[in-house]
Order: sequence, then C-alpha cells, then structure tokens
Amino acid sequence: MKNPIIFIIPLLALAGCSGGDAPLYKDPAQPAEKRAEDLTSRMTLEQKVAQMCQWVGLEHMKSAEKELTEEELHNNTARGFYPGITTADVEQMTRDGKIGSFLHVLTAEEANYLQRLASQSPLQIPLLIGIDAIHGNAQVAGCTVYPTSIGQASTFDPELVERICEETAAEMRATGSQWTFNPNVEVARDPRWGRVGETFGEDPYLVSVMGAASVRGYQGRDFSEPGRVLSCVKHFVGGSQPVNGTNGSPTDLSERTIREIFFPPFKAGIDAGAYSMMTAHNELNGIPCHSNRWLMEDVVRGEWGFEGFIVSDWMDVEHIHDLHRTATDNKDAFRQSVNASMDMHMHGPQFYEKVIELVKEGAVSESAVNRACLKILTAKFKLGLFENPYTDTEQTSKSVFTEKHRATAYEAAVKSVVLLTNDGILPLDASKAMRVLVTGTNADNQTILGDWALPQPEENVTTILEGLEEQSPASKFTFIDQGWNIRRMSRSKVDEAVSAARKSDLAIVVIGEHSLRNNWDDKTCGEDCDRSDIALAGLSQQLAQRIIETGTPIIVVLINGRQLGVEWIVRHAAALIEAWEPGSFGGRAVAEIIYGKANPSGKLPVTIPRHVGQLQMVYNHKPSMYFHPYAIGESTPLFPFGYGLSYTRYAYSNLRLSQDKIPGDGKVTVSVDVKNCGDRDGEEIVQLYIRDLYSSVTRPVMELKDFRRVKLAKGETKTVDFTLQASKLAFYNNDMDWVVEAGDYKIMVGGSSLEKDLLNINLNIE
Ligand code: BGC
Repeated sequence: MKNPIIFIIPLLALAGCSGGDAPLYKDPAQPAEKRAEDLTSRMTLEQKVAQMCQWVGLEHMKSAEKELTEEELHNNTARGFYPGITTADVEQMTRDGKIGSFLHVLTAEEANYLQRLASQSPLQIPLLIGIDAIHGNAQVAGCTVYPTSIGQASTFDPELVERICEETAAEMRATGSQWTFNPNVEVARDPRWGRVGETFGEDPYLVSVMGAASVRGYQGRDFSEPGRVLSCVKHFVGGSQPVNGTNGSPTDLSERTIREIFFPPFKAGIDAGAYSMMTAHNELNGIPCHSNRWLMEDVVRGEWGFEGFIVSDWMDVEHIHDLHRTATDNKDAFRQSVNASMDMHMHGPQFYEKVIELVKEGAVSESAVNRACLKILTAKFKLGLFENPYTDTEQTSKSVFTEKHRATAYEAAVKSVVLLTNDGILPLDASKAMRVLVTGTNADNQTILGDWALPQPEENVTTILEGLEEQSPASKFTFIDQGWNIRRMSRSKVDEAVSAARKSDLAIVVIGEHSLRNNWDDKTCGEDCDRSDIALAGLSQQLAQRIIETGTPIIVVLINGRQLGVEWIVRHAAALIEAWEPGSFGGRAVAEIIYGKANPSGKLPVTIPRHVGQLQMVYNHKPSMYFHPYAIGESTPLFPFGYGLSYTRYAYSNLRLSQDKIPGDGKVTVSVDVKNCGDRDGEEIVQLYIRDLYSSVTRPVMELKDFRRVKLAKGETKTVDFTLQASKLAFYNNDMDWVVEAGDYKIMVGGSSLEKDLLNINLNIE
C-alpha cells in the first residue's frame, strides 16, 4: 500500500520567497514544525533524501578501516567504514548536502568540522549528530560514566534516572552531539543475551517508568530548551527475547505477549515525548522488523500517534537482503523499509542513490520521503542547530565531569548496588586493622564502566581496589592482579591468590563479566556477546572456590551486565554483592557499602536463575509454569525479582485499601506502614504487585504495578500510599480487547516479589 500521508506544499511560503522576503524557515521566531515544512517545500527530491542518510564519523571511519578486514566489517555492528569510499569522499558528500546525519563522532572538534562542511552545502542544513550515550556520554573521554541501565533500574528511582539523562544531555551538547540512541526500553527476558545490562530489566512496568524518565531527562519538555538532546526509544521490537539468546536472532512472539510485555515501554517513551525510535535487528514472527509496516506504521504512528521519525539500526536495512533474504537486493531492501515507514538509514552508501531511483520509478512514494525529511528537519530546528550548529570547545572541559554530575554518578552507584547475601560479615569495621586480599579480574580496572563506554582518564575512575584502600587506611591490602581478560586468566595467578588468601584475614574477590567494547574480541558480555551459559566464565569460579576452600572468609563482588548463576558461591561465600557495572564512582560506592558508610538499598530488576537450564525464568510468569516442577533440579530462582538486602530491617504492617470494591474505571488508595526496625538509617523500595485471581484468559501470577523508594531513619515508621487506578489491571481478553474484568484481585505489597516478603489484601472490581 502506498503511504497515505499527502505532503502539502505551503504555497504561501513559496510565494513569500519569490517576493524576495527572507524565507520563513530562516525565521527563528517561527515554530520548528512550520520552518521544517517551509524548508522541505523548497527542497529537491535529492536534497530531501539526503536528510534520510546517516554515515559514521570521519575519525571512526579511519580507525575502523585500519583495524577491520572487509570480512570482519560484514558482521560487525559497532565499527564501520566504506570500502572504496575515502574520508575525502564523505567530506565532499557533506559539502554537497548529501548527508543529513552522522554517528560516532567522539570530539567536539570533529563535530564542528563536519558542521562547517555542511554549512558549505547549497541549503546549509546542519547535521544531526547521534551517539550511543547510554549511561552517560561514556564513549567520549572525560565524560561522566553513570551505572549502566540495569544498575539504574536497581535504584528504583526514576527521578534519579531523569537527572542522569539530563546531565548526560548537557555533556553531549558540550561535546558536539545532539541525539542519543537511548533509552533502550527492551524488556530483558533472557540472560544469555549480552545486552541485558543495557536495559531496565525484565518487568514491563519498571522498564516503562524508567524509560519515560530517561526521555524526560534527555529531552526536557520538548528538547528545544538549551542543553537538551533528542532521545530515541529502541529497539523495536522483541529482540530481548531471542529464540536462542543471541543478539538479532529471530523472535517468535504471540500478539498478546508482544502487546502486553514488549510494547508498553515503547508506548510510555513515546508518550513521554520521544521524537525518534530505532527498529530492531531481529525478525518478528517471520518479518524483519526493518520491513515491518504493521509495527512502524500501524502500531507506532497509527495506534500510538508517534510524531517523530524512525531510524534503522546498523546496516539492518541491507540485512533484509543479505541476512533475512526477503529482499532480492539492497535496492529492494531500501524500498521495503522506506515503504514500511523507516525514515533514516543507519548508515553508509547506496541508500541515497537507490531511494531517489525508487521514487522516480514510483516504487516509493515521494510523500514518504517528504514526511521523513520534515520530521528530521523539525528535530534540527527544535535543537537550535540552524541558529548555531557549533559547540564551544572552550567550554567543553568545564561542562563535563562537573562536581554536580560526579555527585549524581556517585549517588546512582550507591543506590544501584544490590546486596544479595550477608552472613553477618558486612559491614566491615574500617578502623580495624585487617590483612585483606583483593583479587579478581574486575578489581582494579575500568570494567566497572560497562558496555557503551570507552577508556576514561584514570583519575576519573575509582576502581574497587582504590575504593577499598580509601575506606580503610587501617587495613593492609594485598592485591593479586588476575588481569582484566576473563578468557585468558592464568592458573599461576589463581595459585598466587590462593596462597595470599591463606595469609589474609579476609578475601574480597571481584569477578563477573567484561563488557568494554574497546576489547571487542575478548569481552564476555555486552552487544553481540551472548552466551550459551550463565555460569562464571574463565577461571573465575575456580578462583572463588579455591579461596573459599582455604577457610579465609570471602566477600564476592560481581561486576556484570547480565544475571550470573553463582549458586555455589551463594552457598559458600560470607557475602555476595551484585554491583552491576556501576560507572566512574563504582569503586567508591562498593567500598562504602562494604565498610558500612553507605547502607545498601538496590533491588533486583531481574530474576536471577540458578543456571541456563531454567530459562525462561521471570517473576511474572503464567500460573502453569511450575505445575510440574523440574524432577531433577530446582524450579525456584537463585534470587527473585525485587530482592535486595540492607544493613537494617524493615517491617511491613497494616496493609489497607480506601475501599475494597471499586468500579472498572475507578481507583483505590493502597496504604501500608513500613518501619525501619534496625539501628541504621536506610532506604527501602516498597513494591506493589497484583494478581488477577480468575480471568477469561490466563494472567501472570504477579505483576508489578507501582513502587516507591522511601527514606526511613532508624526506628521511623512511614505510611506509604499508592493510588491504584483500576485501568492498571487491564489486559487483552479473548477478542484482543483491552479490558478490566470484574472480579477479585490480590493486592500485594512488600519488599520483594517473594511471597514471604509480601502482605496481601483482596480488591474487588465491580
Ligand atoms: C546497536 C544500536 C546502536 C547502533 C549505533 C547498533 O549495532 O544495535 O543499539 O544504537 O549500533 O551504535
């Protein structure tokens, strides 16, 4: 079907132009949308298609060309160059106005250089420069690195996430980019997938809340305010439940599951104002997402009223042809994708020429091109790029890694750490002189920065070892370095650590995964780094196990971007800390928790299975999931969703409802008293779940519907009130209508999704 949207040329604007007045689009007082309409109406087909074209930055091209073979280039989704096309060619295309956007431009100087080239083009349209600023603008040296998204989700603090994204936006603008390919609002349903750490976890509600907070942080009210950037919800959709756990492998999901689990965070991000969206690598139910008109046109624009533009993912339009093979050549792939509603091509050659041909041949309607161009230009106008596309390089260093941003990164790191087990060893007494062995692949390096980070100046990063040394000057720390490379750990180094453990009062073992993308071939986690197992890799398990066997008490700290099945360690270590990838101040945060200066408060945004054979394992499963439990092996998780310990204890009581019966369009206040019964101040994450007791189609055994992070001084009791709208109980019935059904619902409130941690009460919907 041809694109039904008809582009109307504003004749008046053209008349104004021919009358000699300055064109409307040049007037900053006019609304961005009007300016974009006016400019689009003056553009040739070629100029409009150019706005849909994105290329990687010149420096990126140069280094990728040096480091990758053409064969490696084919499967690589992080580095790109263009065989047969030089940087001089790309510069000339920019001067000719044949490129609308760049990505992976890592310095303000390069961004300014490219903008200067674009200013020489016939229409002088500035470039939109995009970057994966996922948890801070962490690929740019000198910027603040916040915990990765899974850690941010563990804070259950959307206000904090919004602040992180607002600060990230400021650092992006200071370094030349205006468009972040974030938030990743995929609902992570398989820990084998290397990108779990890039998401806000397994629950659609939590992901929706955190995703919307991110969009608000990046864009502000409408991203035209100074210091804001354009945000991009990605990847649409379903790639977070790949059939075999590998990135980009097929996804086969019922419409019910896709609408109930995977769509809500995208809708929430768009409702929060996200003006761009990225399609997913994978096919969904037999149709590549990049050529899926139902997804992009019918659902996103039609049902949800999305006003922005859709960008393809890395070479995925070409993959419709060379991977999925549902297009006979690249031109056919471009045709399918643009007709399916994709607006900007990431990245590289052919698209420009072929789309022009396709429009001329009538295979792609010009209205699709007009719409894409209009939306992309609207973004550029709103971002203020027509008035000033340049970055003041004098200001760059003053605007990144500021005191305020450092404080937020530290706060986020502390709040993101989840204490999983503690036999009473923690917190340690910092004033006590102890002989402490510190070892493990992640103890003293930048692994704590996680995926989508490149190496940062050493002085900007506090490693775990440095944090520990700062916290307890009284102790004597012996560090046995295992190197960062988990795949190449050495037995002799493990032996050395074991003998050192024998001479120590305590061992702190920092292990897990390695996601740093500058070590692409050796990392164990992150983009395109999926695993067929979720046990510890390399010799990490042996290292921990052999140290435990010495009898020296051991605290294990995990630095990782996906859940790890560490059951043996849970049974034998004195304490286990899940620190995820906590960012620039991760070492300080972890050490402050170990020494009790900070009280742990993070909770798990994912279920942790014991091992890979238990997959799929999520807390919001259907009732029959464990009707027949595994005959051999456990059916319970290692740690449940929402779980996390503290150095204090919280008691829940007096769960009550303002009414025990409400209509299907009503609401109820759910209240609970929470007391801090320990002798330390703390912050508790109070969680509200529901269960539909009887329903016309099967419903999950529990679903998170609200949460609150509450500060409680020692001895203090607070009443926490949640307003529960009956509409939150809705689901798709047998006819795929979105309904709230009458009947009884169990309302559960407590400190984790574990039954023993929850109070419950009945609510009736009339
Ligand atoms: C990833 C995207 C990312 C893009 C640009 C792709 O490989 O899937 O998430 O935004 O590269 O870096």
